[in-house]
Amino acid sequence: MKGVVLAGGLGTRLHPLTKITNKHLLPVYNQPMIYYPIQTLVQAGIRELVLVTGGHFAGHFLNLLSNGKDLGLDVINYAYQEGEGGIAAALRLAHVFTKDEPMIVILGDNIIEDDITPFVQNFRKELGAKILLKEVPDPQRFGVAEIENGKIARIVEKPKQPKSNLAVIGVYMYDAHVFEIIRTLKPSDRGELEITDVNNAYLHEGKLTYDVIKGAWTDAGTFESLYRATRLVAEKEQR
Ligand code: G1P
Repeated sequence: MKGVVLAGGLGTRLHPLTKITNKHLLPVYNQPMIYYPIQTLVQAGIRELVLVTGGHFAGHFLNLLSNGKDLGLDVINYAYQEGEGGIAAALRLAHVFTKDEPMIVILGDNIIEDDITPFVQNFRKELGAKILLKEVPDPQRFGVAEIENGKIARIVEKPKQPKSNLAVIGVYMYDAHVFEIIRTLKPSDRGELEITDVNNAYLHEGKLTYDVIKGAWTDAGTFESLYRATRLVAEKEQR
């Protein structure tokens, strides 16, 4: 099983910091942001990674990560995304590396406290797709899963009036069928190929499962969430 780390985008919400490097290389306490999602994957047994990035500072990733050995990887493949097409458009670029294999996708700004190994092991038995959810106080900022009778009924991207407090975190497990789904997607109102549309397609095929994580989680794409991420890691380090 391969890992896919999505670290594209222009990081405009973090200007002026992102005028000199990629958002995912900014510090979160004592490490560059991108280390955390990579460590989450390595802890779950992933040894081969595809890193999708773009923009002016794509080369900085090679400077920092090189072949990935320091982080416990056997290999990192790099893919370059032109422009900002959304998470699903970035994922499409990983296909030449993942081929027919199942994969675990993680957003490069997601900081996750839990060891996700048990969820990955469950997914390997079931295949299809699996997403991870987390109870949050501000679900309108995220993709939100509505659960009925223990199953996901639908996922709504950034609902104004969320019907649950279960956010879809940036960890997605897919079989290779995901690339057929991506081919059928149309851009959303924000002009992106949405990962939420991918997950809803699996849902309609009856092949989407989920787990709820208990530990802390945050993304880090705004000053507020970047600060939260730093605090989260600092508190964990000092425990
Ligand atoms: C993206 C997804 C959203 C998910 C979030 C997790 O949002 O579209 O469904 O909840 O990542 O970090 P974005 O960061 O593109 O606003």
